[in-house]
Amino acid sequence: MDYTITALPGDGIGPEVVAEATKALHAVGARFGHSFQIHEALIGGIAIDQTGSPLPDETVAACRAGGAVLLGAVGGPKWDDPNAKVRPEQGLLGIRKALGLYANLRPVTVHPLLIDASPLRPERLAGVDLMVVRELTGGIYFGEKRRDRDEHGEWASDLCIYSQAEVERIVRLAAGLARERNGHLTLVDKANVLETSRLWRSITTKIMREEFSDLQFDWMLVDACAMHLLRRPSDFDVIVTENMFGDILTDEASMLAGSMGMLPSASLGAGQMGLYEPIHGSAPDIAGQGKANPLATILSSALLLRHSFGLEAEARAVEAAVSAVLEAGIVTGDIARGDQVARSTSEVGDAVASRI
Ligand code: IPM
Ligand code: MG
Repeated sequence: MDYTITALPGDGIGPEVVAEATKALHAVGARFGHSFQIHEALIGGIAIDQTGSPLPDETVAACRAGGAVLLGAVGGPKWDDPNAKVRPEQGLLGIRKALGLYANLRPVTVHPLLIDASPLRPERLAGVDLMVVRELTGGIYFGEKRRDRDEHGEWASDLCIYSQAEVERIVRLAAGLARERNGHLTLVDKANVLETSRLWRSITTKIMREEFSDLQFDWMLVDACAMHLLRRPSDFDVIVTENMFGDILTDEASMLAGSMGMLPSASLGAGQMGLYEPIHGSAPDIAGQGKANPLATILSSALLLRHSFGLEAEARAVEAAVSAVLEAGIVTGDIARGDQVARSTSEVGDAVASRI
């Protein structure tokens, strides 16, 4: 079969890690007899430099024309002026919104060989297998932003707004995932303070009672969740939460896995189209040095195969190759331990591709 993928390498380490995921995809093609047409397009800071826009129209058109999008990272010090009118991040938020990708799946597992790479005590990490389902196209990220001044000086506001329909669709999706996994859904909110959270709480409770009564359902305030993720991470199965809480909690959760460089994500909407990206950022401090861990992006390409193209065996082949590479101790500096030498981004990528 022929499959079309749009690659958006972006900024910083983005191009380096996307190159390694591309190798993995071509290795899958060779082994399983598929052909992956991978077209590159601009996003983020590099798109601002070349076109003036962080999300050129041609990029959106290219993404719509393909079957899935593989993204590296956006942003960097060059574009960091807080007063700038255009920012690289607008490209990322814009493409999520343009493609209607409202559900961001961020699975967190701890590979046994990486237990020592986590700052947490090993006994806390046994059995960790959780999935954060982050709402991705609503909330404070997309509400009206204002900046003005009055007689007291400057003021600013970010509106956090959610509609019933936005909450319902993501809760149903998350509950469906929980049903296929370990049957436990946790809603994370701040219902003791925020009206949006009270809406989430009442809608979720109703859906769970009426449509998913076979599942275990509970809720947790976001501050308590931040604590419990470190105290008893293996108690979680699926967490469903709003946009900003999900952003923050998944950076925290990545430390369970040992490194930001290990966690993939899938952003899904109503159809088969999806956007796949590591949860880490552009890491400008190590960009261009061959130090970046490509595994999060390679694992994101596995999610791409699974969710957008329905290629389960192929996805598993990528995941198995990543495990084999970890077992062989071929790792970048962020997860190298003891006497393991830190390998380069492309050495790790080559090692994965050759094991596919
Ligand atoms: C993420 C990132 C983005 C987000 C930034 C770069 C806009 O932190 O994907 O988690 O906040 O969604
Ligand atoms: Mg983030």
